[in-house]
Amino acid sequence: MNKFLLAPSIIAADFSHIADEIASIESAGADWIHVDVMDGRFVPTITVGPLFVESLKRVANLPLDVHLMILEPEKHLEAFAKAGADNITVHVETCPDLPGIIQKIKALGCAAGVTLNPATPASAIDSVLPMVDLALVMSVVPGFSGQKFMPEMIVKVEEIRAKLNALRSTARLEVDGGINAETLLLMKKAGANVFVTGNAAFKHPQGSGAGVRALREAMSASRPPDSNDGSRWS
Ligand code: DX5
Ligand code: ZN
Repeated sequence: MNKFLLAPSIIAADFSHIADEIASIESAGADWIHVDVMDGRFVPTITVGPLFVESLKRVANLPLDVHLMILEPEKHLEAFAKAGADNITVHVETCPDLPGIIQKIKALGCAAGVTLNPATPASAIDSVLPMVDLALVMSVVPGFSGQKFMPEMIVKVEEIRAKLNALRSTARLEVDGGINAETLLLMKKAGANVFVTGNAAFKHPQGSGAGVRALREAMSASRPPDSNDGSRWS
């Protein structure tokens, strides 16, 4: 199993050329395609739904890593699974019966993930950590791509890494929000092994292929690049 994975988020892609965008990140070495689903209720933005995932599945050769930032996710699991989601990740803040929903995702044949907002303590996902395939730590308040990285989330990654290790869990530890070449390495050091990147991949000045290649290089480096522009976490 690959140690570290790169999951570019289509939220920052050009939807009018989505097939080209997917081809470009796949040939540049992306591992997963992160699909940010937002309902305008749990978060202010509305993005895409199962119909989009269905079309994406027709042009993608990589696993679809679906991140549900929606209320009542239990009502939509089947539709996303049928549309072709490989992973389905739900927010603890939207699931009164979190163990039940994780079991339902698995019963649908998808990998089950849980995620939590920056303000939510790591302990909130303790009940399902032994059963999930993926734990996702948000390093921005969800809803928009291009936000500033929240360095205070590094300690939460360390905490969840320690919990997963204590459980001898093989679950993936994914991070999402403000991840670029510099912050990726900080989160890698803290114990993350899957990196969601919206802007850093798709809004790279030389295009998304160059963006993914630069992030892959960062992922294989052992320390953060010296940020000579003094911009911490930008
Ligand atoms: C929640 C979304 C974004 C997105 C990543 O807002 O989940 O975090 O995936 O966007 P960047 O990498 O541009 O912060
Ligand atoms: Zn996301």
